[in-house]
Amino acid sequence: MSPDRITAAVGEPRPRVEGRLKVTGSAHYVADTPVAHLAHGWMVTATVSRGRIRDIDAEDALAMPGVLGVLDHRNARRLNPDVSHHFGPDRSLPMLQDETVAYAGRPIALVVAETLEQARAAATALRVTYHTEPHDTGFSMNHPAARPASTLFGPEADTGDLEAELAASTVVVDEVYHTPEESHSAMEPHVATAWWQDGHLHALDSNQGPFGISQVMASLFRIDPERVHIRAEHVGGGFGSKTVCGAQIILAAMAAEHFQRPVRVALTRRQVFLATGSRPPTEQRVRIGADTDGRLRAIHHHAAFALSPLAEYIEWCTEQARTLYAAPAIRTELSAVPLDVLPPCSMRGPGAAPGSFAFESAIDEVAERLQLDPLHLRLSNQPAVSPVSGRPFSTRRLVECLEEGARRFGWAGRDPRPRLRREGNLLVGTGVAAVAFIAGAFPSSATITAETDGTFSVRIGATDIGTGARTALIAVAADALGVGTEQITMHIGDSDLGLAAGAGGSRGTTSCAFAITETAKALREKLAGSARPVTASVDTTPLINWQPDEERYTYSAVFAEVTVDPATGEVRVRRLLGMFAVGRVINPLLARSQLVGGMIGGLSMALHEESVRDPVTGRLVTADFAGYHISAHADVPDVEADFVTDYEPQDPSGFNGLGEIGNAGTAAAIANAVWHATGTRHRTLPISLGRAIEPAPARDRPEAVGVA
Ligand code: MOS
Repeated sequence: MSPDRITAAVGEPRPRVEGRLKVTGSAHYVADTPVAHLAHGWMVTATVSRGRIRDIDAEDALAMPGVLGVLDHRNARRLNPDVSHHFGPDRSLPMLQDETVAYAGRPIALVVAETLEQARAAATALRVTYHTEPHDTGFSMNHPAARPASTLFGPEADTGDLEAELAASTVVVDEVYHTPEESHSAMEPHVATAWWQDGHLHALDSNQGPFGISQVMASLFRIDPERVHIRAEHVGGGFGSKTVCGAQIILAAMAAEHFQRPVRVALTRRQVFLATGSRPPTEQRVRIGADTDGRLRAIHHHAAFALSPLAEYIEWCTEQARTLYAAPAIRTELSAVPLDVLPPCSMRGPGAAPGSFAFESAIDEVAERLQLDPLHLRLSNQPAVSPVSGRPFSTRRLVECLEEGARRFGWAGRDPRPRLRREGNLLVGTGVAAVAFIAGAFPSSATITAETDGTFSVRIGATDIGTGARTALIAVAADALGVGTEQITMHIGDSDLGLAAGAGGSRGTTSCAFAITETAKALREKLAGSARPVTASVDTTPLINWQPDEERYTYSAVFAEVTVDPATGEVRVRRLLGMFAVGRVINPLLARSQLVGGMIGGLSMALHEESVRDPVTGRLVTADFAGYHISAHADVPDVEADFVTDYEPQDPSGFNGLGEIGNAGTAAAIANAVWHATGTRHRTLPISLGRAIEPAPARDRPEAVGVA
């Protein structure tokens, strides 16, 4: 090794190292990985939203060819009822424990057979009957069960005299916004293969962080975490739905133990919709007061979201209000409404995406009432320090994002008045939104060995869910060791590699890069004067500063141009531009790809995605891609993402995460552009055809969404 050699893998646009494997079908995902003597489990889910199982009559199913048995609450092993995950206690994880049904889609049985087809056929022969109880799936902010949300991410904001500042304001916007339940819809459905050997649980599982999942599985099955070995080599997306321990691995592990052989549980697309988490619906009231010249005086953001009483969760919608703009009074409130629904989990910019839609729409409404340029309004209310905590920002390049984005987009000369631009039959409008996304690093550990052949083996329990994390971490390791990327062998995706952040919270790569950088430093010290092989390990847990002096965020400005056909209500996004301040960029090719993907997710949120529950049954009626619309190629216009120069001082290499910020600001920018095109303000997502020109107020109510 030549420590002084200058390498610059970081900053280079390099394609994914596993790209060839993926496009040739040689990259083995969980369901592709052969396992000897494998049996197949078919998950059966509850069809009622609340009640108790009266009976599961398995007589016919058990007589069918190849059937090994049926696992349900009567014969399943007992699991630890007191399990927690990242957000807190989660009583949805112990499955098949009793006859209660807490939501439609709850796994209630697993039919196990020699082949997948036999298991599926037998599952259709199960006769399940229920004692049905009245359910409540009707979400609203004023629901009597509403309670303060968890404050895991810190207390909500309350600075200044809110009511006095509102009273002194020239203009007060006071509006309510709605976003629907949404489904993650990752390309690879959830699937796991599990087997037991000598008291150890082994599993291949499609997830976003094998180490974290291994800890939950150990707790559920009450075994030493050292005895749980989970691998996730290649994962076909997750969007947050694979950050939690999934039904597939819990049921596969239970069945593998029960039937004493390896069992695979692969969910169907429909089961993914019904049983693997969702973004909860939100209702958000935003009040903003401003002076005539556009100076903000008061910001009040109260958001509510639905959850299940089984599992703690936070949809942290109030983040934008506390950091984007300066105002003498800022108050945020967050409410959780427990309902008989599938427990929600993080999805694509959780909290930030629906929160930004409400908050950045409201900011646009302030500009509208004052007849100011919405870009100017945003630029002229930038805080020098955090408007709530008073702490400085570690880096804040939002102004650069707004100004450079405006220049490239051609914002100058835009008439702020709505419904003025026409091209043929079409109304044309442009909109902008700013967004901040909290950044940081989670504890992780890495091990690096300097091998005798001069190469370096890097071991870290990182997960690559398709973003290119593996490729990015190779570049980080090469630079930290002062060698070329061809000298790095990267091992990821295995819980045996130790504590590591999952691919979630926009922190997977930042956290693992931090651990690799610190380990490389330690190895270089050890290597001086030692014969190879030499190994160093570092766990960053003691190095993570949870209360730094400065607030750490990434930033973006998103610009959108839309056309609206006033005859049909069809909204088409014509151009999207996102400018991003995300620290030092490890791989601009992969980073741009991820941000463009995130922006397309935001487009999809703005115009298409909506999970609909039948209010009578509480069941999801959009549990397939015919009913649940996602932006397709024909919906996706010219999308561009680029970076402003940035460096994060809290990271030893200047990095920040960029997994979710591409998603977070896009829906608001599109909604603001639709207002500019049409003069109609859309406060309910998605802006589907029926809502696009003159939304009827009655149809905007979430409880009536089923007939929309
Ligand atoms: Mo992300 S929604 O934390 O996977």
